[in-house]
Amino acid sequence: MKILLIGSGGREHALAWSISGSALTESLVMAPGSDAMAALGRCAEVAADDLDGLLALAEAERPDLVVVGPEAPLVAGLVDRLEAAGIPAFGPSAAAAQLEGSKAFAREACARFGIHQPGFTVCTDIGSARAAIAATGGACVIKADGLAAGKGVVVADTVAEAEGAATEMLDGRFGDAGATLLVEERITGPEASLFALVDGADVLFMGSAQDHKRVFDGDKGPNTGGMGAVSPSPRLTDALQQQVMDEIVRPLAHGMADEGTPYRGILYVGLMLTEDGPQVIEFNCRLGDPEAQVILPRLRSDLVAAMLATIEGTLGHVSLRWDDRSAVTVVMAAEGYPGAYEKGTVISGTKAAEASDDVMLFHAGTKIDETGTVTAHGGRVLAVTGLGNDAGKARATAYAAVDNIDWPGGFCRRDIAAG
Ligand code: AMP
Ligand code: GLY
Repeated sequence: MKILLIGSGGREHALAWSISGSALTESLVMAPGSDAMAALGRCAEVAADDLDGLLALAEAERPDLVVVGPEAPLVAGLVDRLEAAGIPAFGPSAAAAQLEGSKAFAREACARFGIHQPGFTVCTDIGSARAAIAATGGACVIKADGLAAGKGVVVADTVAEAEGAATEMLDGRFGDAGATLLVEERITGPEASLFALVDGADVLFMGSAQDHKRVFDGDKGPNTGGMGAVSPSPRLTDALQQQVMDEIVRPLAHGMADEGTPYRGILYVGLMLTEDGPQVIEFNCRLGDPEAQVILPRLRSDLVAAMLATIEGTLGHVSLRWDDRSAVTVVMAAEGYPGAYEKGTVISGTKAAEASDDVMLFHAGTKIDETGTVTAHGGRVLAVTGLGNDAGKARATAYAAVDNIDWPGGFCRRDIAAG
């Protein structure tokens, strides 16, 4: 089969690695891909958010399957447009991708389907936001409704802090994404992420992970896209995993299908494991980054076959095999990230770092020139994944590989999967 993969980050490098390893894949085209991904297929210079360009590329290439990595083209309706052109695509429709594109849509859907979640109020003016904040006593979470690149969430302790965040959002700090906001009850507990394939009706567990969102050790500093992850999640026991599939994923899939917006693709469920059981923090309509870099190396079954079954509605006949080992990925980022950072700094030692079979190096933001010199061209630049018999051994493998990399312009957290 010919596969077209959309995206260029570390998650897409991991997807390209899995797709190119599938017995079903004859050729792989990536838009836009990256220098590192070019080792696995052919790159086409079309940006992941250029829907017209991607459609034209797909019509010219006529792939047997399009795999969409990032959320923006999904929320903007790329899969709908590809399907209308008769090109099979893996990922939800724009209507179903609202689960990530609108936090109010997701909360209201869960409320209709009886899914366990924190209390919430949807507000479009400061008066109703103030009333909702006052009702929580100040311990609440203020969220911009739309996509805000992970930055549209403020966990508040006091009424003043919550009102400040609500005012800023309604004043347009996140553009249209913040024109509607949610005031949520603040819940507590460890976090975990569960992934599931959903084919409209059937659902299939697709791994668990735990990411580390803060930039510095000890969960200090601002939130980032993710500085590292471990899979399986050490906190999501088999029983909890089953409970999340039965009480969250399945009712959601059935409810969406019943309402005429069936979800097809991979569903990312962000959870808080509270004393009253797992509750939904958020949904994403795609694999996580860097969660893909720990989930996919553990998948023993054919990813492309599972994606095809998801599109065809035959997931009920599929079971997935997993490597029993754990995977840990450590993100190496440019000094300054998530703020301003320099581009073009030289990274050496990547070959030595990935010499072991138990190590995979996924490039998130590098360039590689004709001489093989690797330079940094992004905030999150490399995800270094190690496998091991338990999380501790996987962590040791990942950090040993990190220590082979010489990059004076970069840094990483030293406590990924440590606790
Ligand atoms: P989100 O972008 O919705 O995943 O939120 C980002 C982070 O904010 C989450 O990973 C949680 O740590 C925190 N958070 C979000 N919603 C809540 C909530 N209702 N109660 C407590 N913490 C929350
Ligand atoms: N690592 C968080 C995300 O992909 O949304």
